[in-house]
Amino acid sequence: MSLRINDVAPDFSAETTQGTIRFHDWIGDGWAILFSHPKDFTPVCTTELGYMAGIEDKFASRNCKIIGLSIDPVENHARWAKDIEETQGHLPRYPMIGDTDLAVAKLYNMLPAEESGSSEGRTAATNATVRSVFVIGPDKRIKLMMTYPMTTGRNFDEILRALDSMQLTAKYKVATPVNWKQGEDVIIAGSVSDEEARTLFPQGWEAPKPYLRIVRYP
Ligand code: BEZ
Repeated sequence: MSLRINDVAPDFSAETTQGTIRFHDWIGDGWAILFSHPKDFTPVCTTELGYMAGIEDKFASRNCKIIGLSIDPVENHARWAKDIEETQGHLPRYPMIGDTDLAVAKLYNMLPAEESGSSEGRTAATNATVRSVFVIGPDKRIKLMMTYPMTTGRNFDEILRALDSMQLTAKYKVATPVNWKQGEDVIIAGSVSDEEARTLFPQGWEAPKPYLRIVRYP
């Protein structure tokens, strides 16, 4: 069955570059990002995992752990990490799952559809994880999912931006508008009546339409 936002993120045990983990225990009480890449020692993936290594501290400061995944063995991940540091300037210090039996990839629908649809199974091209990202909250539920094709590197700054929004909107009864960034005005949630809003936001708000109530960042 395909996963949906608000589903509990499936738990699993897996080998990683930092030993065996039980996923939910590894997440602990904070936020987590599970992201897959197609293959070690490939160019776009090298840039992606290097970039994630460079901004890992930004996730940590938001109480968010990150963990990579591909179907390559952990020994390959460890060898590749040195290339990533050499070429991208950042050594991945986050764990990487070696999902050699595709167990997690299947659990999280990270594999592309089989091209032929025949029963002959996967080709080398389809036997690799696509570029998936799952953001998981402290309640172990999926808060965000995204999937990019093999040939398109992701924008991980967008994941940071979305994480800021999700953490803010988990705390306050607000939503964030298009292209919002931390520190900018937010929107009072539609579930909040004007009466409740007067208590929650005594500083007042601007309302160009009754359903569009803009308030300063809490
Ligand atoms: C890459 O990372 O460059 C890549 C990996 C698999 C398929 C296509 C591109």
